[in-house]
Amino acid sequence: MPEYSPPRYQLDRILNETFIEQIDFHSEIDSTNNRGLQLMEEGNGHLPLLVLTERQTQGRGRGGNQWYSTNGSLTFSLLVPLENIPGDRIPQVSLTVGHALCQAIESIAPHCDVAIKWPNDVYLDGRKLAGVLIELPPTQRRQAIIGIGINVNNSLNQAPKDVVATAISLRDALELELDPNEVLIQCLRSLDRQLTTLRNPQHTLSDQWNAYHLLTGRQLELEVYSRRVTGKCVGIDDDGALLLDTGSGVERLLGGVVTRFEGDG
Ligand code: BTN
Repeated sequence: MPEYSPPRYQLDRILNETFIEQIDFHSEIDSTNNRGLQLMEEGNGHLPLLVLTERQTQGRGRGGNQWYSTNGSLTFSLLVPLENIPGDRIPQVSLTVGHALCQAIESIAPHCDVAIKWPNDVYLDGRKLAGVLIELPPTQRRQAIIGIGINVNNSLNQAPKDVVATAISLRDALELELDPNEVLIQCLRSLDRQLTTLRNPQHTLSDQWNAYHLLTGRQLELEVYSRRVTGKCVGIDDDGALLLDTGSGVERLLGGVVTRFEGDG
């Protein structure tokens, strides 16, 4: 395919068509989450605020990993207030974001198989399409930075070997270039809808998380701090905990990193 030259982001359109109140745009930046943390510490932005960049040079992933992104990746961070989300539902923000992204991606790629890998990775046809890094700034526990990286128009052909084996982009899956404005707007609208549902204590989201869940029925290994747990995933409960049948009972895991799972790569 020819070298990709990105279309420009249409900032007015994003403001008009989504719930975003302010955009902090950079043609290049180290990490949109770092910038989000800085803006929150300064405390004078209008939320929901979008930090958006055309090129992120030092993206951060979960568990201290790097986030690999090249020309054509969509990388942004959303700064949102949490105060209208019931306290016991804050841990569910993570799955809610993953689910919102799944719905947005499904509307863009309706013939592909879209899934969440607990807690919030988005998979397309069995490979990782998008990652989410949620951070609560130390001085502002009632606001969150939701950092999202989606492989949109970046081909992964040139990526490091381990990334090629396990990741996918929309461009590679659909064999066409997408308008990043369209993808971003779909994601932001879906995030708005799902976060609104999370605020309503009458609604339970676990049926939807389970409907999209990639790991249910698979054997997996999870690292929780320095403990390693293995077992068969039997689903996600109403609080967003991963349910793992370890052979000596079902463990509820509210945190941790899935390090291996059956059928991976
Ligand atoms: C993961 O799967 O490990 C999470 C990856 C999150 C990457 C995004 S890209 C935009 C935002 N800025 C960052 O530095 N990281 C997140």
